[in-house]
Amino acid sequence: MLWIEEKAQSALERVREAQSRQVYPYFREFESGGLHTTIAGKPVVNFSSNDYLGLTNHPAVREAAKSAIDRYGTGLGSSRVQATTDAHVALERRLAAWFGFERCLVFTTGYQAMVGTIMALADRDTSLILDSYSHACILDGSFMAAGTPGSQAELRFFNHNSPKSLARCLRTKERKNALVLLEGIYSLDGDEANLEELLDVCDAYGAAVLCDDAHGTGTLGHGGRGILEKYGLQGRVPVVISTFSKTFGGIGGILLGSEQVVDHVKHSARSFLFSASLPAPLIAAADTILGMLEAEGPALVNALQSRADYMRSRLLAAGFDLAQSNTHIMPIMVRDERKALFLHVALLEHGIMMVPITYPGVKQGEERLRLNVTLGHSEEDIDRAVKLLIQYGKAFKVIA
Ligand SMILES: Cc1ncc(COP(=O)(O)O)c(C=O)c1O
Repeated sequence: MLWIEEKAQSALERVREAQSRQVYPYFREFESGGLHTTIAGKPVVNFSSNDYLGLTNHPAVREAAKSAIDRYGTGLGSSRVQATTDAHVALERRLAAWFGFERCLVFTTGYQAMVGTIMALADRDTSLILDSYSHACILDGSFMAAGTPGSQAELRFFNHNSPKSLARCLRTKERKNALVLLEGIYSLDGDEANLEELLDVCDAYGAAVLCDDAHGTGTLGHGGRGILEKYGLQGRVPVVISTFSKTFGGIGGILLGSEQVVDHVKHSARSFLFSASLPAPLIAAADTILGMLEAEGPALVNALQSRADYMRSRLLAAGFDLAQSNTHIMPIMVRDERKALFLHVALLEHGIMMVPITYPGVKQGEERLRLNVTLGHSEEDIDRAVKLLIQYGKAFKVIA
């Protein structure tokens, strides 16, 4: 057997075991788009989606994407350097103005925006200082910046959301410049960054900050501009990254910053320069959703928050542990891999999908179901999900 076959076989041991017990939870095949879909012909309400405002399937968004195909086609055949449309540039201008930054650059994914930006900004004079709960895109961008010949930034982690631990990292860093990497909402735990206190520490040490607000965009702040708007911290974070893959109904990365910084990243981020341009239908979808946020952002954010509050209060009353969640992302803590897998299967049998997150996605003992409340979920969807969670939560002794 070739060594790659042996390696794959041993790496897949847990996957094969879950598949043989028929509790393997991933890559289920949706037969239509949206939060309400079917799997193997059975209707399913998806509570693990990031379509936070439920706009991915909005008729106006679909129509805009179709018209963009008629004008620009399905793809652009090259990277942004030689495949930028007027629609990309118009959207970048609108996004910069809406978020309140000088410039915006649209990448093909949020992951690429993060990796490319970190690599463009960090060098051997840089200490990259990461929250210990950082998303994979922050970790990967930092590992690449730390391991690239000639760049080799220093890498340090501070305890999740802890200003004291961040201060310790900044005090003892070994390089001249510090770039601190934070997230608006941490996606597996659903808790917000302790932003103001962390920014005070960064200011005290002259550190630059990059905030990934993928999950705060469209969900936090009066008009949905994210964590900076919510806490009145605009102007204190020089670089923000977000995505079209959640509120904005498609896929694509957003970089926001000053003219100088964004232009520098535009001319040096390898994930931007050497990967194909975001297709125009996705630009049109994001543009249409941005119009909706401009027109009715506060109402959308309020509606999402009251729906999330409704679900949270019912889950807490039933005795569920939602970890540190204080947003529309509410992990159902199960703290046992087998129970998480079986609970997921039981719910899915009744048409409710909440994907389990197990080791190595989270530490052992922190297994959970992913539950995101969105504006696309009706009160009836929520009531049904809560009723089933209580029934099976008791059966599997997740709650008393
Ligand atoms: C915090 C965070 N940042 C970045 C990304 C990457 O975004 P995209 O899906 O656009 O690649 C994600 C998506 O999972 C995310 O959760």
